[in-house]
Amino acid sequence: MGKTYGKIIGWGAYTPDNIVTNHDMAEEYNTSHDWIVQRTGIAERRFARPGETTRQMAVSAGQKALDTAGISAADLDLIIVTTTSPDFMAPALSSQVQASLGANDVPAFQLMTGCSGFVYSLATAYQFIESGAYGTILVIAAEFMSRYIGSADRSAAILFGDAAGAVVIQATDEPCGLKGFELGSDGSQGHNLVISMGESHEIDEVWPTNGHKYQTHMNGREVFKFATRVVGRSCYKTLMKAGMTLDDIDWILPHQANLRIIQSASREMGIPLEKFLINIERYANTSAASVPLLMVENLENGTIKPSDTVLMVAFGAGLTWGSAIVQLQPS
Ligand code: UT7
Repeated sequence: MGKTYGKIIGWGAYTPDNIVTNHDMAEEYNTSHDWIVQRTGIAERRFARPGETTRQMAVSAGQKALDTAGISAADLDLIIVTTTSPDFMAPALSSQVQASLGANDVPAFQLMTGCSGFVYSLATAYQFIESGAYGTILVIAAEFMSRYIGSADRSAAILFGDAAGAVVIQATDEPCGLKGFELGSDGSQGHNLVISMGESHEIDEVWPTNGHKYQTHMNGREVFKFATRVVGRSCYKTLMKAGMTLDDIDWILPHQANLRIIQSASREMGIPLEKFLINIERYANTSAASVPLLMVENLENGTIKPSDTVLMVAFGAGLTWGSAIVQLQPS
């Protein structure tokens, strides 16, 4: 039997219709539109409306991905959902999504690696596809980051937004799919980006939570330094593993955390900024949803062709990072 590959046959995204501009945040967070644009590249973000949930956003993106794939939930063999902002600790968001989509009895699990969650989930999904264990997998990233903003200081509050993105991967014998990936974690730096449950004694030593729930703490400068180190390094490792060069890559899809991080990666890697897809100005940092949202938007507007080869790279809480090269469909 020949090798099994995975092609991306469907995609979909969801963003709340509630647009929050920098001007809207200026007074409450003692900040300004100019500061935010200059330091991050963000002009506006979407916040879920009262009553909206992570589950709804995930289901909406997941259903769109099924629709573009032309399949139904009954055709799925596995659902992976990544989030750092679920509605409940239990049941997992993945099981809630499975029920809402009507994917009866389909296995579903949640994966949490902060903003790197989609790259981790995609690499995981491909292992199931390439081993022959499952034929059709739905991967969803959904984030309700605005639920943590109340406890954040101004440097973190202006950074995040809400969104969901999803893809359907299906087994095929035509060469395409995952060409290489690299995942990593440096837990010793975990204290630099924390959303506490209010009871974490280990973290208390660094960021006192005083028993409050969902305290958000970010040492922005340290995360920034980490990100600029890790992005180029991880991309090159993945290129080497794949036996490819940057000339083989049509688009780089970087995690949308800060425009200056993307600019720095472009300089360090010696790649023109035009090769990096960017939408941070409209959505801010949507954590794990950022890479799939970027991919879906650019597939929908025709910038990414389905036979293109993309290099995704993300980093975030953990601290974690990951990059992956994927040819979405056979050429
Ligand atoms: O998905 C991964 C998650 N996170 C990241 O990737 C975050 C990476 N880090 C960053 O993007 C940047 O570090 C931030 C945008 C968060 C902050 O920008 P920065 O240039 O690193 O600012 P800073 O924290 O070093 O602060 C510089 C100054 C400070 O004032 P003083 O002490 O120099 O007077 C801050 O108080 O900027 C001030 N400041 C602000 N001023 C206006 C911090 N946040 C704001 C703000 N508005 N929102």
